[in-house]
Amino acid sequence: MSIWHITGGSPLRGQIRVQGSKNAVLPVIAASLLCGADTELLNCPNLSDVDAAMDILRYLGCTAARCGDALCIDTTAPARCDIPRELMHRMRSSVIFLGPLLARFGEAEVSLPGGCELGPRPIDLHLHALRLLGAEIEEGEDSIVCRASHLRGAEISLALPSVGATENAMIAACAAEGATVIYNAAREPEIETLQSYLCALGADVSGAGSPVIRITGFSPRSHAGLRIPPDRIAAATYLCCTACAGGEIELTAAAPGQIVPVLDALRAMGCAVSTHGERIHMTAHGRPASPGAIVTRPYPGFPTDAAPLLMAASLRCTRPAMFIENIFSGRYRHAEEMRALGAQIVLRGPMALVTGVETLHGASMKSPDLRGGAALVAAALGAEGESTVTDAGHILRGYESLDETLRSLGASVWREKA
Ligand code: UD1
Repeated sequence: MSIWHITGGSPLRGQIRVQGSKNAVLPVIAASLLCGADTELLNCPNLSDVDAAMDILRYLGCTAARCGDALCIDTTAPARCDIPRELMHRMRSSVIFLGPLLARFGEAEVSLPGGCELGPRPIDLHLHALRLLGAEIEEGEDSIVCRASHLRGAEISLALPSVGATENAMIAACAAEGATVIYNAAREPEIETLQSYLCALGADVSGAGSPVIRITGFSPRSHAGLRIPPDRIAAATYLCCTACAGGEIELTAAAPGQIVPVLDALRAMGCAVSTHGERIHMTAHGRPASPGAIVTRPYPGFPTDAAPLLMAASLRCTRPAMFIENIFSGRYRHAEEMRALGAQIVLRGPMALVTGVETLHGASMKSPDLRGGAALVAAALGAEGESTVTDAGHILRGYESLDETLRSLGASVWREKA
């Protein structure tokens, strides 16, 4: 069990380069299966979720190797189309392999990803899209078998703009005969990255970033390359850590245009935020003002993954702050842990009301999930004395050396490797 020790009270100062995006690289790794090609991906974050995705490729008979921040993948000779339970459960978003396997082999057999810390994670929209493309799907208690001797283009209308379902549909549609149109598609920046990669592999895909995506053809290529864009949630995390601890930070290699609602909320809290191209500069001093009401929504709304971090930053705000979570029912488990620091948070269904307190005190907390764990570390940076965060293994699923990076900014954060 990994335990983090945080001593709060030191302001953060310095410059950090934002890591490549976890949520962008994972579907790209899965999509590399679409045809026999070698792919070079640059700016890939070194994360346990990325390792898990590479292990899935290796299990399937592909080669996948890391060299610094580059991943080299060769998918010319995969030998199987099943993914065992143990591998599926190592990565929450492993269901993204369903579309690529179906496209490549006409068959896919995976175990179900199951629920997770954020509440139930249904995949009905993924399966709906694949069925419309011609897949026959058998759902077992813990497994899914998809078969399609012939995928055909379809008009797919998603009841919700699910990121994962949009990605699976885009990838599978590349192997279909005829055109596919996806309506009410997710508009997240990660969808645009996937489109760029699919185009690099030879697919005709357009519309990513809008609610309508068209896939009209595919002439497979044998080489593809892509640079993974910056991680918008990691950027939001470092800004919120600074809002908690106070100080002055500059992020480089960032994409400020992708986190406008987060930057606006930090400004409303009294942080001085400025952006210049790929740089974000922020200073934070004293008790923050309230961010008002933070309502999570699909992109370009306030990202659900950044809400726990902003909640950490608002625990000491001078007026109440309201959070409304619209994406995941189990999002607030970190809030219960934050109360140990002296935070005043009232939870009512999708709403959380934070009444800021003058001082937070170090406490022992347990990490509930990836972003919740990072939010507890952020909150502890703004508390007096020492805090511990146990069960913190989740954090490294999404952050490359978060502890080292915070130390480089002057924080006292140590990870006990157990
Ligand atoms: C992705 C991100 C995750 C982020 C989330 C929302 C990755 C690897 N993960 O997750 O970090 O928090 O987007 O921005 O990119 N839903 C259904 N049926 C489905 C699929 C989804 O009802 O078949 C619901 C979910 O329960 C949830 C909502 O749709 O309430 C959004 O989920 P979705 O966009 O699919 O999130 P993920 O792709 O799992």
